[in-house]
Amino acid sequence: MKLWSGRFEKNTAAMVDEINASIGFDFRMYKQDIEGSLAHSEMLAKQGIIRQEDKEKIHAGLLEILEDIKAGRLSFSQDVEDVHMAIEGELTKRIGEAGKRLHTARSRNDQVALDLRLYLKQEIKEIKELILELMETVLQLAEDGKTAVMPAYTHLQRAQPTSFAHYMMAYANMLKRDYTRLEDCLERMDECPLGSGALTATTYPIDRRFAADLLGFERITQNSLDGVSDRDFVIELLSCLSVLMMHLSRFSEEIILWCSWEFKFIELDDAYSTGSSIMPQKKNPDIAELVRGKTGRVYGDLVSMLTVMKALPLAYNKDMQEDKEPVFDAVDTVKKCLPVFSAMLHTMRILPENMRSAAGRGFINATDCADYLVKKGLAFRDAYTVVGKLVNHCISEGKTLETLEISEYKKMSDAFESDIYEAISLEQCVEARNVSGGPGEQSLRAQMDFIAAFIEEKSKEIG
Ligand code: ARG
Repeated sequence: MKLWSGRFEKNTAAMVDEINASIGFDFRMYKQDIEGSLAHSEMLAKQGIIRQEDKEKIHAGLLEILEDIKAGRLSFSQDVEDVHMAIEGELTKRIGEAGKRLHTARSRNDQVALDLRLYLKQEIKEIKELILELMETVLQLAEDGKTAVMPAYTHLQRAQPTSFAHYMMAYANMLKRDYTRLEDCLERMDECPLGSGALTATTYPIDRRFAADLLGFERITQNSLDGVSDRDFVIELLSCLSVLMMHLSRFSEEIILWCSWEFKFIELDDAYSTGSSIMPQKKNPDIAELVRGKTGRVYGDLVSMLTVMKALPLAYNKDMQEDKEPVFDAVDTVKKCLPVFSAMLHTMRILPENMRSAAGRGFINATDCADYLVKKGLAFRDAYTVVGKLVNHCISEGKTLETLEISEYKKMSDAFESDIYEAISLEQCVEARNVSGGPGEQSLRAQMDFIAAFIEEKSKEIG
């Protein structure tokens, strides 16, 4: 029998139970549901809404149920509908009368809004930790690849020389923003909706702040209609996770390119790559491909939720039960991707000689060659034209800027002197970019120190 069966004369059809039940996916919030009920009943007793002894029975019963679930001694079938009714029903089965008093001044609408916030707050904390671990791996890679010169690309065409470390620090900065985006999301999520009731709060003299304190919320929601119908916190989290996955997918794409024979800038560890069932020579970057692929899945979760919420009238509508599967899927996916991506990076080998030799082709020091002429007094546009002609000359002669004779340089401009070779050496090109943000040693050190300090500060905060 349903907890709400009072006004009904028939049982629900089996098909209705099938579509209506959320226990199959909301059961994972049992801890939060119990935590919420402990706080709610504590508050009810403090306010004299239920008796102290009933509260004690409720607490003992709820804690026993929690233990039984954790130990795998208790499970529920679909006809209990959802986690909230499953636990409340079980409580009453165990402690009788007192159990029936738990739901005073509460609705499943504020209950589910509470449970989901509690659940996601914990998940965000775990995801933040995983991001910090990944940042640490990326920083270590930068440390290992400090002197590795590699080409940087625009339009996937070799553009200018940089270092592998500089490249890694670009990703470290993206991850830092992903981290702080989650902090912002958490900050806004940190409001307790309990006490909103079904939609217009309650006539009982409840103490919302007291329950919120017990549950560790920074604030309470300010409007009961909003408290039960807001799911922006879900959408905001999904969008943070989508951006994070977008970054991981770009990183994945680079890994996939870099471990191809065309690049060979890195070699993935055997434990983090896979083979082919037919081609014996193959070593595939499946992890990076899966992370890239799962990005689509997380975007899908975001779009699902935006679509579910679109145009819903206030306040609670059953459509909103559809919030859980996408957000759980996204959270699970991200939690699966981050550690394996981190481990894949941690174990891969970087191949600086290959990076250096790729940097040696493609005239990626042409900008520096033009800058050399500017330092000798030419206007940049004139210098640009001279070097363009030089590159053209090199292409037809099968030469590089490094192997061009000084006499050939001088034919194009007599501003060239023998110090040109030093000015266009790739190591020098990287080193000379010491403005902040650049790959030069000092600038890079500052970037790395900044990220290291961020990781340290946030690790301490998380504790
Ligand atoms: N299982 C429901 C959900 O996830 C709980 C809230 C039900 N409220 C209601 N009025 N039927 O949204």
